Amino acid sequence: MSLLERCRSGFSEAFGRQPHGVAFAPGRVNLIGEHVDYNGGLVLPMPIAAGTAVAWGPAEAAEVEVVALDYGQRRDRFDPATTQPLDPPGWQSYVRGMARQSGTAGVALAVTGSIPQGSGLSSSASLCVAVGLALAEADGETDRDPVALARAAQHVEHGWAGVNCGIMDQMAVAAGRPGAALLLDCRTLHTRHIGLPDDWAVMVVQSGVVRELVDGHYNARRRDCEMAAAQLGVPLLRDANAAMIAAADLESVVRSRATHVVEEIERVRTAVAAIESGDLIGLGDALRASHASLRDLFEVSVPPVDALVNLLNTTIGAEGGARMTGGGFGGAVAAVLRADAVARVRAELEQGYRPPNGAALAIMIEGASGLSAGTIQ
Ligand code: GLA
Repeated sequence: MSLLERCRSGFSEAFGRQPHGVAFAPGRVNLIGEHVDYNGGLVLPMPIAAGTAVAWGPAEAAEVEVVALDYGQRRDRFDPATTQPLDPPGWQSYVRGMARQSGTAGVALAVTGSIPQGSGLSSSASLCVAVGLALAEADGETDRDPVALARAAQHVEHGWAGVNCGIMDQMAVAAGRPGAALLLDCRTLHTRHIGLPDDWAVMVVQSGVVRELVDGHYNARRRDCEMAAAQLGVPLLRDANAAMIAAADLESVVRSRATHVVEEIERVRTAVAAIESGDLIGLGDALRASHASLRDLFEVSVPPVDALVNLLNTTIGAEGGARMTGGGFGGAVAAVLRADAVARVRAELEQGYRPPNGAALAIMIEGASGLSAGTIQ
């Protein structure tokens, strides 16, 4: 049964009637441009086939009623006009935050998803955008602006989950197209869809180390960047360059963070040029350099992720490359490689990588077959 079918039938079972519609939002894998969104830089994420589905219909009461199909049909019920952030935050917080912003009352929602959580593939942005689409549809708004939706979802992540994230995930989820990378300028929110050559493949591999964004490391990195920008006298690190960093008297950690951001933005430009000219070797170099910088300068990788990236890079060879993806401290690894190398690389990984959590190796191959964010009657 597909995710959308599971969502529809879960709604019927939970509420005893058919839903009026189902909203879907994908997850995302970031190909390159890590920890640069909140510095106003350029990023290159791509939607993935896994995502979140939210079936909706009228509720019997004037409140919002939610059932989490993946959590043993756990229920939540609240008044969207007065609901507040929960402590600790959980799935309910995301739904409540989106409902508080839209003000939609008298609606029943059933939620289910296929994105592995804590894997850096934006399960929370996907949940927020899917809920936002379902609520908009319930309000009779049929064409919700992706930028407004992304901003609402980011606001929920900040105020309802305590993660001071950038806008990359929400924009990738709300505006991305399957099979294409989304070049996003995080300062202007201008986007450009960049299709990947048909004979390339994007592979996403779970490291088996579950990531916790909320644990403070993420917000701490953001503070380091803000400190660097302030000391360099620029509003955002997007406005800094290598010469400014070399000339400034920055403390060594702050210097490393700023260097990563400035160089990573350049790597996004290099990666876009490489994709557009079909240069998989050039893209691979940029991916490997990005990982090294996240490991050594930004310090957001962990040893099992480094081991997985190294194994992938050795196996893939020059034509492509791999790097950690997402906020870091575990989660998934992204690789771009020749489509005809996928079977060989998969076999090598099955031989050579054991996820530390004891789980079976999970590999996703991403292409144009997924869905973009939207609603279905
Ligand atoms: C998380 C955040 C994003 C972004 C990445 C790192 O996914 O939600 O805003 O900062 O980390 O690139």
